[in-house]
Amino acid sequence: MAFDAVAIRADFPIFDRKIRDGKRLVYLDSGATSQKPNVVIDAESNFYRLHNAAAHRGAHQLAEEATEAIESARQVVSEFIGGQEDEIVFTKSSTEALNLLAYSIGSAPKGNKFHLSAGDEIVVSEMEHHANLIPWQQLAARTGAVLKWFEVTPEGRLDLSDINSVITTKTKIVALTHQSNVLGTINLLDELVKRTHDVGAVFILDACQSVPHMPVNVVELDIDFLAFSGHKAVGPTGVGVLWGRSNLLAELPPFLFGGSMIESVTMTDATWAPAPRKFEPGVPNMAQIVGLGEAVKYLSKIGMPAIHNHEIELTKYAIANMAAIDSLRVVGPLDTNMRGGAVSFTLGEIHPHDLGQFLDDAGIAVRTGHHCAWPLTRKMGVPATTRASFYLYNTLDDIDQLCTSILAAQKYFG
Ligand code: ALA
Repeated sequence: MAFDAVAIRADFPIFDRKIRDGKRLVYLDSGATSQKPNVVIDAESNFYRLHNAAAHRGAHQLAEEATEAIESARQVVSEFIGGQEDEIVFTKSSTEALNLLAYSIGSAPKGNKFHLSAGDEIVVSEMEHHANLIPWQQLAARTGAVLKWFEVTPEGRLDLSDINSVITTKTKIVALTHQSNVLGTINLLDELVKRTHDVGAVFILDACQSVPHMPVNVVELDIDFLAFSGHKAVGPTGVGVLWGRSNLLAELPPFLFGGSMIESVTMTDATWAPAPRKFEPGVPNMAQIVGLGEAVKYLSKIGMPAIHNHEIELTKYAIANMAAIDSLRVVGPLDTNMRGGAVSFTLGEIHPHDLGQFLDDAGIAVRTGHHCAWPLTRKMGVPATTRASFYLYNTLDDIDQLCTSILAAQKYFG
């Protein structure tokens, strides 16, 4: 069946409402958070209505149902990214997932595979979101490790020309984004992962902007850890995923301590349950996890290749039409090969915040600023950009409306 974004919109109740005095909502901010279909909203609310109890605790029917609901979401999520069930750790966000990794690695004792010493190297890139930069900066500061990074070319691609001097025999961690939230650039990982493994380091993928938008398979990518958030993937806020190879999760020390992550406890000591439980202390964000399970089922039913193709079409159309606008500069690759649907741009001297407000008055939601990737916007030579980001419910009409309003803004601001 042909991909039908208009029919898909009908699954998302927010598109029934009008915005700014009766205007159609043109939602171009899915890079920040996606809208939610009825099946996700219903799954979350039904959990509270019918099954609410503390999962993994309690000897009653509701507790069993809550446990079953969470564990079946874990299975669905693991299948979605090609991992195994016991490799899925639920967190409250992808930011928490990446911090969990950084703290756990930072607490690894001598003799542990993950132990970092002064002079060991951690590699990131200039195109990281702050959530995949600052945790590694802080880990380097705590351990004496050295932070290194890949630079970004003027076109907005990773510069891999000197890969062997960035990833060296001292490298212990390579943590990179799969798709830039600002530039839309999708990073080709093969060479990076191979080099990482050749030097005995682990490869961590920030997949926040890729897992919701294209097929991602952790086995095919041959990576070691991956993080993504539910709310960008038509799922609820308050749930993120850390996937890790089971042998690595087994070796990684836990980060947060408390109930349900233990094997045995005395007054002076404790031992840990196997992963993923040792990374999930406390009562989990159950309704959100259940909602994420439904979100993943919803996306899988439509098909990730179809969603990706739709976004490529939108992006091609957007770039062609936007680049034709006088004094509009797309900040990021113009070529839609290995590029996702986040299109950042500047418009002459018009400040992105002013443009964002102008577009909002027309019912168009975009993000403006440095998009939590400040070193990147600086590198691209702009203080801020306006970003339109697309998803499965966007149509060519949305892009036409965006371009018409950009032209109107030019007129308005002179
Ligand atoms: N990381 C999100 C964005 O790019 C919030 O907007």
